[in-house]
Amino acid sequence: MLPLVKPYLSPREELMPEIERVLYSGYIAEGEEAWGFEEQFKKFIGNPNTLVVQSGTAALHLAMLSLNVGPGDEVISTPMTAEPTNTTIAFTGAKVVWADVDPATGLLDPRSVREKITERTKAIMLVHYAGMVCDMDEFNKLSEETGVPIIEDSAHCMGGKYKGKVIGSNSQYTCFSFQAIKQMTTIDGGAIAFKNPDEVEPARKLRWFGLDKKVPRLQNDITRAGYKYGINNITGVIGQVQLRHAQEVIDKYISNGKYYDESLKGIPGVTLVPYYKSTEPSYWLYTLKVENRDDFCKMMEEADVTASPLHHRSDTHSLFKESKCELPGMDEWYKSFVHIPCGWWVDEESRERIVEAIKRGW
Ligand SMILES: Cc1ncc(COP(=O)(O)O)c(C=O)c1O
Repeated sequence: MLPLVKPYLSPREELMPEIERVLYSGYIAEGEEAWGFEEQFKKFIGNPNTLVVQSGTAALHLAMLSLNVGPGDEVISTPMTAEPTNTTIAFTGAKVVWADVDPATGLLDPRSVREKITERTKAIMLVHYAGMVCDMDEFNKLSEETGVPIIEDSAHCMGGKYKGKVIGSNSQYTCFSFQAIKQMTTIDGGAIAFKNPDEVEPARKLRWFGLDKKVPRLQNDITRAGYKYGINNITGVIGQVQLRHAQEVIDKYISNGKYYDESLKGIPGVTLVPYYKSTEPSYWLYTLKVENRDDFCKMMEEADVTASPLHHRSDTHSLFKESKCELPGMDEWYKSFVHIPCGWWVDEESRERIVEAIKRGW
């Protein structure tokens, strides 16, 4: 069965000697290989103010800590995401305030966010869900007008673009995940990119218990408790090798995504998702809306292709019961959206087969 997600790993003959070299080098903790990956990732996203971390969740947490989000604060967020986007807000003690999504795209609706801003709002959490980029023109305007910072959760959108530039330097914080099923994986890993260079050093300390790596350990003075969020050299070297292939791999997702955009036009029962002005998706998952979704998924299964909605809406968890509110856009979207395989493992024959199956109907 053609899967919806599949990790890309660099060729064995390239990756394994590098892993072995570092594994037996005598230095496997955070060091040169980890920082080497950090330098290269900075170049990939075009933002020198970037830290690599153990996970996308750690990246989101560092964004919260940088903003001092805590009890009594509110963070406006989307229910259309994977759980860590919102559990991270919850574990700071802040309240998640749901804004509605645009029912045409499933992405946070800036008009709804505007209505939810109060004097307690500490941040707006955007998710470039499934690799589709949010309406950044409107969100940038909103952030400028209100002074509320934006955190872009770009766990699904490495290589997506806004105004022709790769996602990673537009908002105050952009968070990435290199977890096992993402477009580029280091097995587990993540990164946080800052707009304000002054925020990097404090966050770097929080990445390592609150200690300053530039000061000898015996002379270090912790002023704020930090975490163990740095990556080790094995993750670092995997990242360096993976990054050599990342653009080529992402380009395959994009090529398949564009193929579906063209080939699925005008098919009865299918509604394509429009992309916002000045944005270019990276198509981690191809997302569309269909009538009779259960029948659609069954038909795809019979064609040996996985099709499904991947994430459960976050606002239904008991953890968020105090945040419960009406979200008509989300209700509408959630009924009909579905993903089909779009990644590097989908070759031309497979994507044609998928389109033909959809054209035959369900
Ligand atoms: C939208 C989103 N945000 C954040 C995360 C957290 O990333 P990680 O698993 O690397 O902690 C994930 C993935 O798991 C995700 O899908």
